[in-house]
Amino acid sequence: MIEHRVLTEHFDTPDLHRLEVYESIGGYTALRKAVAMAPEDLLSELEASGLRGRGGAGFSMGKKASFIPMGTMDKFLCCNADESEPGTFKDRLLMQRNPHRLIEGMIIAARAAGANKAFIYIRGEYELQADILDAALAEARAKGYLGESILGSDHQCDLVVHRGAGAYICGEESALLDSLEGKRGNPRLKPPFPANQGLYQGPTLINNVETLCNVPLIVDRGADWFRTLGTEKSTGTKLVSVSGNVRRPGNYEVELGVPAREIVEGLAGGAPEGQTIKCWFPGGSSAPILLPEHLDLPYDFENMAEAGSMLGSAAIIVVDDSQPIVEVAMAIAKFYHHESCGKCVPCREGTSWTVKMLDRIDSGEATPMDIEILASVQEQIVGNCLCVLGDSMAMPIASMVKHFRPEFEAHIEQARRAADREAIAAPVEEAA
Ligand SMILES: Cc1cc2nc3c(=O)[nH]c(=O)nc-3n(C[C@H](O)[C@H](O)[C@H](O)COP(=O)(O)O)c2cc1C
Repeated sequence: MIEHRVLTEHFDTPDLHRLEVYESIGGYTALRKAVAMAPEDLLSELEASGLRGRGGAGFSMGKKASFIPMGTMDKFLCCNADESEPGTFKDRLLMQRNPHRLIEGMIIAARAAGANKAFIYIRGEYELQADILDAALAEARAKGYLGESILGSDHQCDLVVHRGAGAYICGEESALLDSLEGKRGNPRLKPPFPANQGLYQGPTLINNVETLCNVPLIVDRGADWFRTLGTEKSTGTKLVSVSGNVRRPGNYEVELGVPAREIVEGLAGGAPEGQTIKCWFPGGSSAPILLPEHLDLPYDFENMAEAGSMLGSAAIIVVDDSQPIVEVAMAIAKFYHHESCGKCVPCREGTSWTVKMLDRIDSGEATPMDIEILASVQEQIVGNCLCVLGDSMAMPIASMVKHFRPEFEAHIEQARRAADREAIAAPVEEAA
């Protein structure tokens, strides 16, 4: 069986979200171990595990934590639970089924980073999950896992759940910090990076829910055990959200490096009856699309990047041959245009212009030369924005033009002919 359940191992246990049930399956033993360890040793263990961020960029978790400067200033830990990338719905499952694993991971990560104030920034729509987390936090506090002198040690940490108001941009780490501080969630100019100047100007470690959920497992079972899962550079398992044109959409936990085809066709059942796969997004809607032949690649950080895309948040969106590529591109462009915060010009203007150009292509008003301009504008957006929201639209759109240019051209031609036919028919109808 290709599924390898480590993070989701006990998800069938009834009431796993309750503290006593979590403890009965070994919950909080990693914390007991961690409070007896020096923060430097915890950092070394996390770095040695090779754990890479599960929120999108895939940066080494241990290395990022080691960037937090020493010293007595206030330091913070933020868990990114905004989960707004289209196609991504794995963090919701982790928080809903096993909130204590995240809380335990955060208390340990806070010790490693020298932080004693921690926040979970959760998207506003996840009301149920936020309520579950609040209830779990109350249990953890009452049991002495949070607060001062945790389990009689020198570690002190408190944790607050903060509900967002439903803006995709607030998942970008610096916009998340502004939002947490009570400001409008806009990305900040970087550097300085949050590890040096983050929340309230203090050093801040920001990690995704799934990244932090791996922490207790690494501390409990060891970095060497973690490295036995996945590949040399993409260690561990990954929760993959599969959606779009597949027979069995859902979350599947697999070791990194399994063939993508086994996830898409094996676990998710492949395209619906009578359809074939046209293309797929390997890492959420911001990842450049890949073609059916790429399904034979190992699904990990390196192979997705080498194929010209990215693993991102590991949300696979499958597009079958019944979907016109121009409509797929339009759905992507409209989403990012709507979610652009407008703070920087390339993103604000680039996303709005792209929607207008795709509209021209869809209505047949565009010329084949416009497809060229569409592609070149995407190139000008990438790398020129304050954060990568603009790139998140430009990269997939550019990849669609690259792989499906003849379909874009045919779409214009068909739409133009349909418009011509309508124009010719109109006076006849009027006369009749
Ligand atoms: C526009 C935008 C939206 C993002 N949304 C999320 C999100 O919802 N959740 C998340 O974990 N990371 C998101 N990220 C990535 C974060 O900025 C950051 O890299 C991540 O939280 C770091 O955690 P990790 O190292 O554990 O992956 C987003 C980035 C951008 C540019």
